Amino acid sequence: MSANGDGGSERLPKAHLHLHLEGAARPATLVEYARRRDVPAASLEGFTDLAAFVVAYETARDLIGSLDELQRVAREVAEDALEQGCVWIEVHFAPFSYGGRLGREEALLEAVLAGLAEPQGDATGAAVVLAVNRAHGTDLGRRTLVLAERYAGRGVVGLGLVGDERHPARPYAPLFARAREAGLLAVPHAGETQGPHAVLEALQLLRADRIGHGITATRDPGLLEQLADTQRCLDVCPTSNLRLGVAEDWSAHPIHRLVAAGVAVSLNSDDPTFFGSDVAQEYATAAAHGLPVAAIAAHSLRHSAAPDHVRGPALRALASQTTPAT
Ligand code: ADE
Ligand code: ZN
Repeated sequence: MSANGDGGSERLPKAHLHLHLEGAARPATLVEYARRRDVPAASLEGFTDLAAFVVAYETARDLIGSLDELQRVAREVAEDALEQGCVWIEVHFAPFSYGGRLGREEALLEAVLAGLAEPQGDATGAAVVLAVNRAHGTDLGRRTLVLAERYAGRGVVGLGLVGDERHPARPYAPLFARAREAGLLAVPHAGETQGPHAVLEALQLLRADRIGHGITATRDPGLLEQLADTQRCLDVCPTSNLRLGVAEDWSAHPIHRLVAAGVAVSLNSDDPTFFGSDVAQEYATAAAHGLPVAAIAAHSLRHSAAPDHVRGPALRALASQTTPAT
């Protein structure tokens, strides 16, 4: 395979750093769960913005009706990722969004960790980013952080910030400071629907290690330079952006300008169940648009929380696949 990734770029060894558990559930599994309860299957399309999408997402999440069903969703997410060449995944999960209906949040997290672990081999792995929802306030945020602290180093690798970006990041800054002290990565979403100021806030107030989306940074040349200089990775999700109306099409997507400016980016699917794409397709489409997918895959691995025994072999395999034959 060439370094440009033509031919099988979707199989490159990589880390998938930005996906949400329920947003990556197999549609057939959700349909099966709906039938079991004799409720309508969730609509997986028909939204055009983030607010409508969040409603659809919550409807799908509410179809998961037991810890066993949750564990199966997690196992299938991990299986699908392995199938697509992801040696490592970091899955956003928000146990408090279940409102206690499946039991204590520890039990939910345990079910997800067990499901993610089931299909892993010696040189692959999976972890959870516990997600705080901006719209749900700092009390739930603090409870999410406490759970993350308890599971730091035991399957949880980061603290995320998701949901409607019109809720500012500032109130969540103390939580991210504590997460850092616990050795967790700070991986908030920012700069998806709000402008470059949101990316700057994520960097300055939350001290983000990586940023989910971050694409509006392209509107601020100084910020672009800062991102390139500091090599903070943006976990970009092009198809998600197209489906939620924050980018026009692949050719005009900000990822081209980010890459040209020397910003580290990873490619991700965000919520493949809803957006009709998966991470392998994101890589294939990126390659077709001339993006340096092997370098992007390397960024995804280097900026992940993957342990050395996963990251090292994957980076070596990537290098051997992309070194031009002499
Ligand atoms: N939760 C799931 N997907 C999301 C997205 N793209 N932005 C914000 N919150 C989300
Ligand atoms: Zn996301």
